[in-house]
Amino acid sequence: MTTWWQRGAIYQIYPRSYADANGDGVGDLRGIEQRLEHLSALGVEAVWLSPIFPSPMADFGYDVADYCDIDPQFGTLEDFDALTAACHARGIRIILDWVPNHTSDRHPWFEASRSSREDPKRDWFVWRDGAPDGGPPNDWESVFEAAGPAWTHDEATGQWYLHSFLAEQPDLNWDNPEVEAAMHGVLRFWLDRGVDGLRLDAISRIAKDPLLRNQTGAPRAHNEDWDTIHERLRGIRRVVDEYDDRMIVGEVALHDLHRTVSYLRHGDQLHLAHNFLFAEQDWDAEGFRTSIDDFEAIADPESWPAWFISNHDKSRATTRFGLGASRAIGMMLYALRGTPFVYQGEELCLPDAEIPADRIVDVDGRDPERAPIPWEPPSEAGPGAGFTTGEPWLPLIADAEDLCVTRQAAHPDSALSLYRRLAELRAGSEALQTGSQRTLDLGPGLLAWVREAGEERILAIVNFLGTASGPVAAEGSLILSSRPGRDEWAGSLDAYEAVLIRLES
Ligand code: GLC
Repeated sequence: MTTWWQRGAIYQIYPRSYADANGDGVGDLRGIEQRLEHLSALGVEAVWLSPIFPSPMADFGYDVADYCDIDPQFGTLEDFDALTAACHARGIRIILDWVPNHTSDRHPWFEASRSSREDPKRDWFVWRDGAPDGGPPNDWESVFEAAGPAWTHDEATGQWYLHSFLAEQPDLNWDNPEVEAAMHGVLRFWLDRGVDGLRLDAISRIAKDPLLRNQTGAPRAHNEDWDTIHERLRGIRRVVDEYDDRMIVGEVALHDLHRTVSYLRHGDQLHLAHNFLFAEQDWDAEGFRTSIDDFEAIADPESWPAWFISNHDKSRATTRFGLGASRAIGMMLYALRGTPFVYQGEELCLPDAEIPADRIVDVDGRDPERAPIPWEPPSEAGPGAGFTTGEPWLPLIADAEDLCVTRQAAHPDSALSLYRRLAELRAGSEALQTGSQRTLDLGPGLLAWVREAGEERILAIVNFLGTASGPVAAEGSLILSSRPGRDEWAGSLDAYEAVLIRLES
C-alpha cells in the first residue's frame, strides 16, 4: 500500500520567499495560508517548510534560538496551528525542518554553555582546548568556505567551540545523552502539535569521531557520518513511531550512495534520504541512468528513493541546464520510482535571480535561488508581483511579468501547466506511483525507463541532447510531452524533450 509520502510530490516552501501577508517584504505563515490554492492545484501531497523558528537569521533560520516557537517575522504559534489546519483541510501534509546538528549562538543552551567551564550545559556543545601552537583543536573546516575553520575561540573561557557551519551555529554535542533527550523532546513538541513529518537538516553531522581526529589525509570522514549515526537515527525513528503515519526525510549530503542508503536500511532509520549524487549530476543521460540504477542495486528492496534537483541551496535547474532541460526534469521527478521533491518556483521553471552586489545577504552565495515567488504580473500587481506590497527582502527575477503564477496558470503550454498535468497523471496511475522500474538503453543521449503495474506499462524517455534524437524503437501512444505542441508520438524526440508513452501490451 502506498503511503502519503510515496504517492505524490512533496513541495518545499522557503517561507521568507513564498508569500508576504503583512507587507514587510519577508514571507510569512499567513502568506502561505493565503496561497494554498496554488498547492492544491498542483496536487502536492505535503509541504516542507524551511525553518520558521525564532532565529537571529545569520543563516536565515538554520540558526535556531528556540526550537519550540515561531519567529515573529513568520508569525505566531497560533498562525502555525491555523496553517496546519488549513493544509490538513485540503489534504496537504505538513513537514517541518528540524535542525539537530547546531543551534544559534543566541540559543539559551549555548549562552549557558559558554558562560563558564563549570556550567551544567558546558558539555551540550563541543568545547576543546586549542592546539599546542595556539591554533584550533584540529583541522576541520566549516562547510561554508567563507567561514574558514570549524572552530571559534571564546575569549571568556579560553576554549574553542565547534561549528560545522557559521560561528553563529555552534554544534550540539550528540555524544551527550542529555542533548539527545532534549532534541527528542523537540520532536515530540511538534509531533504533538500535528506535524506530519520532519526534514532532518545536515543529519550526517550529528555523529562525529569522538576523538576529533584530523581530517586531512584520513581515509574516511571524521567530522560527520561516524558509526554512531545509525543508533542516533534509530533513536529519532523510535520517537517518530510513537505517532501514527509520520515521516522523516534526511538531508544526507554524502557523495557516496552506499553511505546514503545505509541511512535507510532495515526500516528503522529514515523513511527517505535526499540523494545528492542525483541532484548534483551534470546534464548527462549516462550519469543519471547510473545514479538511478545504483540506488535500485544498492538499497534494500523496500527502500524508497527521494528525487530532487533543486532546493534553497542550489542554483535552479533552468539556470544550470536551460529551460528545455528543466521542463524535462519535471518529467523525471514525477515518473521515476520514488518521491518527487519540488522546490518552490521549480514548477514555474524559474531561473535564478540576479542579485546586485549591494543586495547580497547570504554568506554562501545562495541568494539567486531564494528570490521571492512572482505571483502576479508586476504591470498589474506592482513591483512586488503579488509576493509583497512592500520592499522584497531579495530582488525578484527579471522576467516576473511572464513567468508569474497567474500568467502561467492561464497558459496551457507553460511549465506550471506541465507540472499540474504530471501531478494529475501520477495521481491516476498505479504504474507511476508504485510500479516496477527498469531502465532501457535506447541510444546515446537518451535516458529511458519503463514503469509497470498490472496491465499498465509506461515508457519514459528524456533526450539529453541539444539536437533531435534519431528514430526510437518504441510503439505506443503519447501520454504527455514536455515539448509544447506535441500531441502524437512520431518515433523521435526533439532537443531536450521528455515524453511519456503508453506501451501497447
Ligand atoms: C543545510 C541547509 C542549509 C543550511 C545548513 C546549515 O544544508 O539546507 O541551508 O545552511 O544546513 O543548517
